[in-house]
Amino acid sequence: MMIVSNMISKIHGEIKVPGDKSISHRSILLGSISKGKTEITNFLKGDDCLSTIACCRKLGIKIEEKDNKISVYGNGALALKEPEDILNVGNSGTTIRLLSGILAGQEFLSIITGDSSIKKRPMARITTPLKEMGTTIDGREDGRLAPLCIRGGGLKAINYKLPVSSAQVKSAILLAGLYADGITRVIDASQSRDHTERMLKAFGGQIDIVDNTISIKKSDLYGQAIEIPGDISSAAFFMVAAAAVPGATLKILKVGINKTRTGIIDVLKKMGAAIEIDNVYISGGEEIGDIIINGGKLFGTTIGKEIIPRLIDEIPIIAVAAALAEGKTTITGAQELKYKESNRIAAIVTEMKKLGIKISELPDGLEIEGPSIIKGGKVDSHGDHRIAMAMAICGLFTDEKVEILNSACISTSFPTFEETLKAISL
Ligand code: S3P
Repeated sequence: MMIVSNMISKIHGEIKVPGDKSISHRSILLGSISKGKTEITNFLKGDDCLSTIACCRKLGIKIEEKDNKISVYGNGALALKEPEDILNVGNSGTTIRLLSGILAGQEFLSIITGDSSIKKRPMARITTPLKEMGTTIDGREDGRLAPLCIRGGGLKAINYKLPVSSAQVKSAILLAGLYADGITRVIDASQSRDHTERMLKAFGGQIDIVDNTISIKKSDLYGQAIEIPGDISSAAFFMVAAAAVPGATLKILKVGINKTRTGIIDVLKKMGAAIEIDNVYISGGEEIGDIIINGGKLFGTTIGKEIIPRLIDEIPIIAVAAALAEGKTTITGAQELKYKESNRIAAIVTEMKKLGIKISELPDGLEIEGPSIIKGGKVDSHGDHRIAMAMAICGLFTDEKVEILNSACISTSFPTFEETLKAISL
């Protein structure tokens, strides 16, 4: 349990947030199927990414940690070994979906599963295209749910139009495409995060991108040195806290500002926040920069379908910004939120209402009436790290205590969240 109460008066200073979760996963996965050593700095040692390391080790890959660097010793795309035991991804949807793409290319048997949340999350979105490519893959309820059982190999290329925009599904197909005969093409429904494409290119993959169509063919990958940027999805909690406090100034150092992830900046600016980016550079194909937020008054806004893939993980904290803003905020086109670590639409509404926030559920989103006077209370994380952290930020804006039950899940993506929260409000 975590308790937060009014710490906002002095939000200021400089902070660093941990490494990007999506990029950390990909660095281990690509390193594991590359030739030679991949050396990773600023790797996110959160539970999800540690699950990816554990799974790759079970597949015979040597992964070492020394002096805060992770080294992955790959031996090429086909050097993975049949795991003796079931692969367990814990709470990580990215691990199960991306790794299944790689396993589809391996001529051995793997069984992959995760915690109770993973066992509820939709898997047909990957099993359907992977089956079409020729792999033998099955799971509970006709391949719709984990555990998944995969005997890979013999893949052929497909052209696949994603029914819903999803970076995880796109990535699973692209990774399987590395093992397929012919050119695999994935057409994204709209631009989802493109870290897999960028990293594949950096590792020497033969990948072409024209608008929303990505083509890939069999290619050898070579280990690289990777610097993981700070995670903008983690930074978002502190961006909102600072943006909503007049007089606050906060600088968040070395954050990934890949344009497929910066919807949160666009939305906060639209709500009236003053945000600047400084010291921009590129590393491993990813843009990195310092984000500077000067707090002020926020106003309600409308957030529609087109921008959702660029801020999908930030909606819980955007709901908090909306509660603090003047006027109504409407979020639509966000039905994918129902299939995340929890049903995030239901979880946000249930928990925020307990703190007196005027919020209601729409079939595909949320409606929030601000400004709400946030009160104290006991809220539950629903086992979802982003719900727990969003509720903690609510706690900054009330004199009463907000108690967040089941907050241990925060370590999924942001193990140092509580100390960072204390550091900005000293
Ligand atoms: C992720 C993609 C997103 C996001 C998830 C991480 C990734 O899901 O919600 O937290 O690393 O590829 P989608 O597959 O819905 O895009």
